[in-house]
Amino acid sequence: MNKIKVAIIGAGNIARSCHMPAYNKRDDVEVTAVADINFERAKAFAADFGIPKAFASAEELLSNAECDYVDICVWNGSHAPCAIAAARHGKGILCEKPMAASLEDALEMQREIEKADVPFMLAVCTRYSPQVQLLKQMITEGKLGDIYFAKTAYTRRRGTPRGWFTDTKKSGGGPVIDLGVHCIDRTWYLMGNPRPVRVSASASYAIGDYQTKGVGRWVAMDSDVTAFDTEDSASGIVHFENGASLMFEASWAQNAPGESFTQILGSKGGARFDPLTVYGEECGYLTDNTPTCGTADVFYEEIDHFIHCLRTGEKPISGLDQAVTMQRILDGIYRSAKEHKEVEI
Ligand SMILES: NC(=O)c1ccc[n+]([C@@H]2O[C@H](COP(=O)([O-])OP(=O)(O)OC[C@H]3O[C@@H](n4cnc5c(N)ncnc54)[C@H](O)[C@@H]3O)[C@@H](O)[C@H]2O)c1
Repeated sequence: MNKIKVAIIGAGNIARSCHMPAYNKRDDVEVTAVADINFERAKAFAADFGIPKAFASAEELLSNAECDYVDICVWNGSHAPCAIAAARHGKGILCEKPMAASLEDALEMQREIEKADVPFMLAVCTRYSPQVQLLKQMITEGKLGDIYFAKTAYTRRRGTPRGWFTDTKKSGGGPVIDLGVHCIDRTWYLMGNPRPVRVSASASYAIGDYQTKGVGRWVAMDSDVTAFDTEDSASGIVHFENGASLMFEASWAQNAPGESFTQILGSKGGARFDPLTVYGEECGYLTDNTPTCGTADVFYEEIDHFIHCLRTGEKPISGLDQAVTMQRILDGIYRSAKEHKEVEI
């Protein structure tokens, strides 16, 4: 089997700790090059993982390295320029979540990707957990009936990442765009990706740049960024064309325990995870079933799906249209919170 060639753009934490280990597990993919605006970092990354070429920019990489697709692992605000450059060079694109730092950037990416007609997939890893995949199959087979409501949360009591994450110019926003994208995306996926029409949301900036001791935080490669203009938390409700709705909460800092869950309500049954429990009725009695799902390397599964799509020509489960729609939801949440009113998506 021919090896698929991938080049990594962004030699930071997610590339180092999650994407490279996934590539290292397979022998049908070759990582041909890496680029980072911090060239020393790109060179160190190449040396550590035995990658033949390192570059100081996406453009340099695209002009000099062979690849079938690029794996974009840069700041949110750099997703659009890197993806647009890749599309113009005719390369496929696997792009870390969120698609972009703004809807405007996402729409420009969409135009360029469609013009170039290159494969694109948004890397939304939580779709690939066994419990999400099992529940998706059950919902698709109609076991829960019609899905009319869902709620989800990805909240931390104190867990604001350090570095560019808190600088809106580089991140596009705080926990909504960082964590909300995960829990809203996987819930929307389970609901069958209905068309969003309206959103009502609020955001809080009450806690800010706290100095709490003894708490763990994700630290970006450049942790000296001092800008801090992102929200602490947000919550709201997204309404869909089919009448269903999705309630969400996302926070980096709140004065309550953090949680991560998705709950789906259907006309025949319901479900909640983590861990997955399916609520139903059998022989006139209520049942709570807890399937044994195990765990998976969700980054491996996500990359595996993209490679499968490249080889077969199948459409990824989180392709361009869904990525743009997800960005419209994120944009609607921020607009609604800013304008203190329900907005159309
Ligand atoms: N799927 C997940 O669970 C998950 C978890 C963490 C981060 N992420 C995403 O991964 C991306 C990277 O996050 P991270 O934590 O690795 O950040 P990071 O700061 O550790 O690494 C980002 C790297 O990108 C480089 N960079 C920025 N702009 C660039 C450009 N235009 N060209 C080349 N290099 C550029 C930076 O120099 C840095 O080395 C973000 O989009 C983030 O949302 C996803």
